[in-house]
Amino acid sequence: MTAVHIEELTKAFGAKKALDGISLTVEEGEIFGFVGHNGAGKSTFIHTITGVLPTSSGKITVLGEENLDNVKGCMGIMPDTANLYEYMKGVQFLKFMGELKNDKRTKKDYYSLMEAVGLGVEGDKKIKDYSFGMRKKISIAQALLGNPELIILDEPTSGLDPESSIKIRQLVKQLQQEGKTVFLTSHNLDEIEKISDRVGILKEGRMEKLGTPEELKNVEQEKLTVVIRTEPVLEKEDVLQMEADAVFLQKEGPNTWLEVETETLIPAISKAIIDSGKQLYEITPKKESLEDIFMNT
Ligand SMILES: Nc1ncnc2c1ncn2[C@@H]1O[C@H](COP(=O)(O)OP(=O)(O)OP(=O)(O)O)[C@@H](O)[C@H]1O
Ligand SMILES: [Mg+2]
Repeated sequence: MTAVHIEELTKAFGAKKALDGISLTVEEGEIFGFVGHNGAGKSTFIHTITGVLPTSSGKITVLGEENLDNVKGCMGIMPDTANLYEYMKGVQFLKFMGELKNDKRTKKDYYSLMEAVGLGVEGDKKIKDYSFGMRKKISIAQALLGNPELIILDEPTSGLDPESSIKIRQLVKQLQQEGKTVFLTSHNLDEIEKISDRVGILKEGRMEKLGTPEELKNVEQEKLTVVIRTEPVLEKEDVLQMEADAVFLQKEGPNTWLEVETETLIPAISKAIIDSGKQLYEITPKKESLEDIFMNT
């Protein structure tokens, strides 16, 4: 089944169009990552598809339902800013929220959930005494209560230390293995690339790019840059003499940058270098990252 189906969604705040004709389909079991500059419309998108904000126009279907009230119980949401019950302790808060969402787990399982998001025994104190990252973690835990089919996380890892971010990424993957659909936003492009099956790049309320990380990178990449480290360093003249279709770009220290049409030329380039008597230490195709794509969007 389709988890989220959006057609021509717009949301205006006065004259400002925060969302401007977004269409998107997210399949069940998919991890979908949304990226975009501050103010691009990511949180507004989440607020509209979860029914927190009314739309200006367009059609939203979540888990097969157009009436979002019918599926709210099947969604777990970690909003961009969370109001937490400051005078409750961590587990007490989760148990309270879990009971509201008809969560059947035992008290011991609430502690396991705390562990899963990286809140160990330290988390069992009043939320008013939590650090920023601890607040994030309990907000994520709260989104998992009631066994939701669709989990929506607005910047789950921003402000988390690297180890905690990795733990959350593992948790998201585990949720996917359990059959859940996860929709998340992040400013960490490396993370989004690693974790998401598909990525949407939002710009000024419009979906500028949409696809798997590989698709997005391949669209942009017409030619390939190859970095080569040799001793002595590969000079422009050496490249001109090669029987391989490579263009010299620049040299810096022991490295030389070449441009080639396809990676199938790499064996011929390696052979030419070795035949010329130079020592070849490294030859690396420089793949474009999602960050490169984002910067060019
Ligand atoms: N309640 C609101 N009233 C008026 N304008 C709003 C409201 N909420 C969002 N906006 C505007 O809509 C646009 C999109 O904001 P949104 O919070 O969705 O961006 P975002 O992509 O989540 O950004 P960030 O990365 O900073 O979280 C911005 O111009 C913002 O000022
Ligand atoms: Mg936001």
